[in-house]
Amino acid sequence: MPLDILKIRKDFPILSQQVYGKPLVYFDNAATTQKPLKVIDTISEAYKMYNSNIHRGVHHLSEKSSEAYENARAVVQKFINAKFSYEIIFTRGTTESINLVAFSFGERYIREGDEIILSTMEHHSNLVPWQMLCERKKAKLKVIPMNANGELILDEMDKLFTPKTKIVAVTHISNSLGTINPIKEIIKKAHDRKVPVLIDAAQSVQHTKIDVQDLDCDFFAFSGHKLYGPTGIGVLYGKEEYLNEIPPYQGGGDMIHHVTFEKTVYNKLPFKFEAGTANYIDAIGLAVAIDYLTTLGIYEIAMYEHELLQYAASKLQTIEDLIVYGNAKYKSSVFSFLLKGIHHYDTGMILDKLGIAVRTGSHCTQPVMDFLKIPGTVRASFAFYNTKEEIDVLYEGLLKVKQMMS
Ligand code: ALA
Repeated sequence: MPLDILKIRKDFPILSQQVYGKPLVYFDNAATTQKPLKVIDTISEAYKMYNSNIHRGVHHLSEKSSEAYENARAVVQKFINAKFSYEIIFTRGTTESINLVAFSFGERYIREGDEIILSTMEHHSNLVPWQMLCERKKAKLKVIPMNANGELILDEMDKLFTPKTKIVAVTHISNSLGTINPIKEIIKKAHDRKVPVLIDAAQSVQHTKIDVQDLDCDFFAFSGHKLYGPTGIGVLYGKEEYLNEIPPYQGGGDMIHHVTFEKTVYNKLPFKFEAGTANYIDAIGLAVAIDYLTTLGIYEIAMYEHELLQYAASKLQTIEDLIVYGNAKYKSSVFSFLLKGIHHYDTGMILDKLGIAVRTGSHCTQPVMDFLKIPGTVRASFAFYNTKEEIDVLYEGLLKVKQMMS
């Protein structure tokens, strides 16, 4: 059934406000999404009614919050179809999930001269942690190139593998170009050579149905706040065999089974990777966000967002001198562009005064901008609560930008 957008918008109180006396048009969803009331109310309710540290107390409140936290883990497990709930590790977000793997996998498996394959379109969070690992271990990064449309050149990827390749880490969907990468094919290429794969799913879980068992990825990372959930909570999925094999990322409470000054025996999964007090309240909020999305239907969301992207592409590309960056055949609802001769920052500032929120800059993908030989883009990223009328407002806004800057 098609989504009832006007009804959906009522679930997001922030969307009905005015900015500088103009109705807010929120097109910065790839940076963070807005939260439905259900999520906000759940967090408030948890603090008001049953806040208590998890896994520690025998008392009623602690049992209640521990149960809600472990239920959140089960919700995430079902959402991405992980085989076991203990393969779901709660982290602060995608960045921490990737840092965890770069550190722990790196400690266990990376030696001097080893190689790690990334792609040209990685967000800095799926690049810098690997670079830090390479510096620590004297290992080497290899990069899958892309073409002018912003698509990875997979034939070139084949040439990057050597017996020294230890892991492939690639993004599912590019945050700056919107390209949807053929990750199943990438994973198969790596597995044919017995190389594990980490998928950065920060931009994909909110737009497309995920089944980690079907993908057969070894690690899968995403954030709550881009998934209509709270900030400060994210997920690392890892296959049991790897999570058991790699050492903990941080030490502290909850990740231990037994401690003496001579030796510590670590806790079982998933707790081995969740040192300290977990962000249990936001995990509970994330589970509600996932319920909200799955009730709407990920497929219905993807269809509608695709419609928005097509509408934006056909309407905005009628503007003279508008250059689109990212013309992949398969794209998510990200529209990155520049107006010829106008700095992205000026465009963003003028749009802001018209109530339109877009992101400008390199979007934490400086190598992508270097490849395109531009300092940055203006990025409008759409969510299921956006409308075609809002895209019309952006169109009018861009005409205004051109007029003011000419
Ligand atoms: N990674 C986020 C973005 O693309 C912040 O905007």
